[in-house]
Amino acid sequence: MVVLPLHRCLVFRSLLHSPRGVSGSHAAKESPAVAWAAERGRQPVRGCLRLDSYSTKSGIAGVAERTLIAVKPDGVQKKLIGQIIQRFEQRGFKLVAMKFLKAPEDLLARHYHDLHKKPFYPNLLRYMSSGPVVAMVWEGHNVVRTSRLMVGDTNPAEALPGTVRGDFSVHISRNVVHASDSVDGAQREIQLWFDRRELVDWECCDHSNTYQV
Ligand code: TYD
Repeated sequence: MVVLPLHRCLVFRSLLHSPRGVSGSHAAKESPAVAWAAERGRQPVRGCLRLDSYSTKSGIAGVAERTLIAVKPDGVQKKLIGQIIQRFEQRGFKLVAMKFLKAPEDLLARHYHDLHKKPFYPNLLRYMSSGPVVAMVWEGHNVVRTSRLMVGDTNPAEALPGTVRGDFSVHISRNVVHASDSVDGAQREIQLWFDRRELVDWECCDHSNTYQV
């Protein structure tokens, strides 16, 4: 992978019109960023040039990273919505989108398509469609990795106290919350659950208390 210095990445960011970045499916062939790379004999690469993960404000890599968090039906029934949101707010992440819905089966099937051959898949889909869920998009530095740590191990028996699953669940089949497990997975899941117009672009006033400016 070609690794360019940060200022080059930021040049790309400022040149790019598409908010999805060159790795997004809307990367126009005539995009100025792509032209910039072509002029210099470079290929825009995924990774360093994940332009949407750079903040134009702070220039800190990964500040605009996003993840999908969902309070599952058991979490809703246990009245945990507020506490789960509070953990992400208090940690310093920014809420970008949220909806309360009974997830349709086809959405759940696409969400869990990697698991469709697993023996627990039918029960998983039945459980996930048994009641409403709260789907959310959270944004911030390293939010994918950090939220996986905050949520805890898939199996609540292994989840540490202090994690959501470690505090509020006992069995793997009812583990209260979902968190995307990779940056690419998060992007895919956010697109599944949310229309682009539902992602709210806003400035959080404590940005400079959370990040160096
Ligand atoms: P998975 O994607 O492996 O875990 P995670 O949610 O931590 O990313 O599995 C998806 C969900 O499937 C998991 O949250 C709970 C359920 N599940 C079971 O019911 N039984 C199992 O043995 C496993 C591995 C998962």
